[in-house]
Amino acid sequence: MTDETTELVYVSAVKQAMAKAYAPYSKYPVGALIVAENGHTFAGCNVENASYPEGHCAETAAIAAMVLAGHQRIQKIYIMSQDQQGATPCGGCRQRIREFAGSSTPVILCSPAGVQQRLSVSELLPHAFGPEFLS
Ligand code: THU
Repeated sequence: MTDETTELVYVSAVKQAMAKAYAPYSKYPVGALIVAENGHTFAGCNVENASYPEGHCAETAAIAAMVLAGHQRIQKIYIMSQDQQGATPCGGCRQRIREFAGSSTPVILCSPAGVQQRLSVSELLPHAFGPEFLS
């Protein structure tokens, strides 16, 4: 497969994840797809509940699935919302992504129409506090 075809597969997978979101309160569905080592992929969607702050983000769900499967390195991550400009991760998720990524790891922001913006982790979270500060 060409890189372009592979990316279409990833964009389709993140769209499917977004379609599974449980977001009856915000009505803001989000999907996330992590590509980990050796091309393993892990999807997540946001899941809300009646106690609004207790919901969790799509990226958080994808990270949990990755770690549960025994992987700890994000090669790249796709995030999709319905926003035409593409999704952008919340502050908490930027830190969660940073934990398992390098400063140049691509964070690929998508709308249903496809990729809208490619940023690096350090562009989204400059001067980050990461695990290396604690080693
Ligand atoms: N949301 C995510 O899933 N990821 C983000 O990075 C931004 C926000 C969710 C949380 C909540 O369910 C809805 O979007 C509106 O904030």
